[in-house]
Amino acid sequence: MTAIEGVEAWEVLDSRGDPTVRVRVETADGTGTFTVPAGASTGAHEAVERRDGGDRYGGRGVRGAVAAVREELAPVVTGRRVTDQRGIDEALVDRDGTDDLSRLGANAVLGVSGAVAHAAAAATDRPLYESLAPASGPGAIPLPMVNILSGGLHAAADLPIQDVLVVPVGAATYPEALETAWEVRHATGARLGTDDHPPPVADEGGFVPPVADATAAFDLVVEGIRDAGYVPGDEVAIAVDVAATHFHDSDADRYALGGETVDREAMIDRVSGWVEAYPVRSIEDPLAEDDWRGWERLAGRVGDRVQLLGDDLLATNADRLDRAVDADAANAVLIKPNQAGTITRTRRVLERARAAGLAPVVSARSGETCDATIADLAVALDAGQLKVGSLARSERLAKYNRLLGIDRAYDGDFAAAAALAPRR
Ligand code: PGA
Ligand code: ZN
Repeated sequence: MTAIEGVEAWEVLDSRGDPTVRVRVETADGTGTFTVPAGASTGAHEAVERRDGGDRYGGRGVRGAVAAVREELAPVVTGRRVTDQRGIDEALVDRDGTDDLSRLGANAVLGVSGAVAHAAAAATDRPLYESLAPASGPGAIPLPMVNILSGGLHAAADLPIQDVLVVPVGAATYPEALETAWEVRHATGARLGTDDHPPPVADEGGFVPPVADATAAFDLVVEGIRDAGYVPGDEVAIAVDVAATHFHDSDADRYALGGETVDREAMIDRVSGWVEAYPVRSIEDPLAEDDWRGWERLAGRVGDRVQLLGDDLLATNADRLDRAVDADAANAVLIKPNQAGTITRTRRVLERARAAGLAPVVSARSGETCDATIADLAVALDAGQLKVGSLARSERLAKYNRLLGIDRAYDGDFAAAAALAPRR
């Protein structure tokens, strides 16, 4: 048995330059390090990250979370068997004592949980995608969903929807999928900037388009797909993260969609219209995080044709996932470890989703570092899809490049278009 001998934590800066928590777990047979990501368009039902407040870093410091790791969580895990991820995660959650991990902070708890996973891989001399895998072994290399245009809370843009992405559904291998996405990204960029001045990029590396209307953004990407020599829909499909929670006015119960405000029914019509008119294969958060009625109605209308992906709706939370399964409100779930708060909770939601027939999509946050843990996690748990931003900014490329390394080292399949919901 390899026991945990020490836990260290400190503050580092993420891709927005904001503080975040880095944790290192030490054993006699190896150490593991993990750095916690952070969202901007966070949902109300996520595990709660802890920020210091006050003047330092505009209130965004994480010294409190770092102190919680050192003073409260390190004693809980020190001496435990490093490969007992589930037992360790339960002990971390117990120590916090709240369901949403708000006492110590989900950033403290996940920091330790993630570093334990890496330390267990090091101690057993295996790559992380193997040590996190079930007994049957790791799964396929995931199909990437690559960000092309950004709006919403991720960009100083007029565009209310957050991401327009491409899914290289015609690619036969992971490297081919990346190359295809690169070509479409460049072709779209060429329509937005000049060769001397590439267009500015947003938090996840997507271009910030000079359009305020979702359909104008889809037109741009469809043109980019054609310019790159691909057939829209058959070879390269569009995915959208509407992130509708962030333009839903809950008092008026209306959606503020680019200069107009629309009610639920009009929003459902609008989104259904996108599915009719554009090669859209995946739509994330088309309605607000508590608009269960709207989600059910939309799923009834287009759920047999398009992937309806719950991010803020489901918040990588098992109870919310169960509700969505019962109500038939979504057919896919975004999996973000820091919404869940531990590696074990993340794994549980992913496995439960798959058992219920929902497609899991492992996702980064808009605030990231070059930590590539989620690339390993997606392969280990056979998620099938990965969403980590655009082909720009090193915190994004760290994940794409990690998958290129895994693809070389491991003779696994490529998930390809079959990973998308609904299954066809
Ligand atoms: P976030 O964005 O990390 O800012 O929440 C990612 C997403 O909405 O999928
Ligand atoms: Zn989202």
